[in-house]
Amino acid sequence: MSLLLEPYTLRQLTLPNRIAVSPMCQYSAADGLANDWHLVHLGSRAVGGAGLVFTEATAVTAEGRITAQDLGLWNDAQVAPLQRITRFITAQGAIPGIQLAHAGRKASTHRPWLGKRGSVKPEDGGWVPVGPSRIAFDPEHTAPSELSLAQIREVIQAFVSAAKRALTAGFKVVEVHAAHGYLLHQFLSPLSNQRRDEYGSCFENRIRLTLQVTEAVREVWPKELPVFVRVSATDWVEDGWNPDETVELARRLKALGVDLIDVSSGGTSVHAEIPVGPGYQTRFAERVRKESEIATGTVGMITEPAQAEHILRTGQADIILLARELLRDPYWPLHADDDLGGNKAVWPAQYQRATSREQPIHESDLRD
Ligand SMILES: Cc1cc2nc3c(=O)[nH]c(=O)nc-3n(C[C@H](O)[C@H](O)[C@H](O)COP(=O)(O)O)c2cc1C
Repeated sequence: MSLLLEPYTLRQLTLPNRIAVSPMCQYSAADGLANDWHLVHLGSRAVGGAGLVFTEATAVTAEGRITAQDLGLWNDAQVAPLQRITRFITAQGAIPGIQLAHAGRKASTHRPWLGKRGSVKPEDGGWVPVGPSRIAFDPEHTAPSELSLAQIREVIQAFVSAAKRALTAGFKVVEVHAAHGYLLHQFLSPLSNQRRDEYGSCFENRIRLTLQVTEAVREVWPKELPVFVRVSATDWVEDGWNPDETVELARRLKALGVDLIDVSSGGTSVHAEIPVGPGYQTRFAERVRKESEIATGTVGMITEPAQAEHILRTGQADIILLARELLRDPYWPLHADDDLGGNKAVWPAQYQRATSREQPIHESDLRD
């Protein structure tokens, strides 16, 4: 029996298995509104058997978008198109999750496939981003304007409003994006945060915004449903955010009622030297799970069912998040079930004949 395909319960929510679609920006929305692309993209992965299907980083304010084409939940009109998607995901037996995000100084960039680096300038339809300090991500990015204390309060409120809308839209898991060099991570990391007020310099001050956002989201998210936080365990740069700080942050988040830490890495610095390889971030998830005594998700170059199963069996993480592998093969969970010798995953009724490879078949055979 594979653990990977076993249900997993957090609070009163049971995921049908431990495979999650990791958040993946599609850069395909107009005005933050989900459309047919998002329905088919996310819907396909629910059909493919993933237990938890996360939306891409969904911006809590318009200026918090990485690109002008990101999904958003900063107004009520953005709820209905997402509701259509959660309805479909739920009908496939999967759980819809949403990642709420603010890009901070990494906002207002080009869609990646255009091959243009750096910021879209205001005169070209972009905007000046905001951040903890006036430090640009790299020379090609616009330096952000420094958030005032009043603006910080507005950011917290934007996360809360977006969480309420996400609930109305039918999401069951909310994930606060505090990783990959986006706004909350920018406050965590001394590389991007050089403030002298209560949000900067010492560890207690740098984690303040992530704690305040998470606490406020937890307050409006129903008690029976889980809250995740995605963190970058390390900046992979000396004097950057590090794994010891991550372990301590995870302890604080657990005390606020966070259910699972989704452990990624990097994103703050272009100078990071990342030893990429199969499962290269999993050791951080394991450390957080053991030392902070909280459930973890692991992500990053996990591609093989046996690899995922091993991670779970050896207690390194509680769920497996897959990104690119699920782009390559939306049916990965169904194939994984085959590979691991189980019969837990159920092909959609409409596709069940796909599993018989031996016999010829005609439309008329499909009636029984
Ligand atoms: C197209 C694409 C878009 C992504 N967008 C997001 C995102 O919106 N939020 C996020 O936290 N990570 C994002 N990521 C990172 C993935 O969630 C994941 O952490 C990373 O790709 C490593 O996993 P993998 O090796 O399974 O692809 C994105 C990755 C890809 C490939």
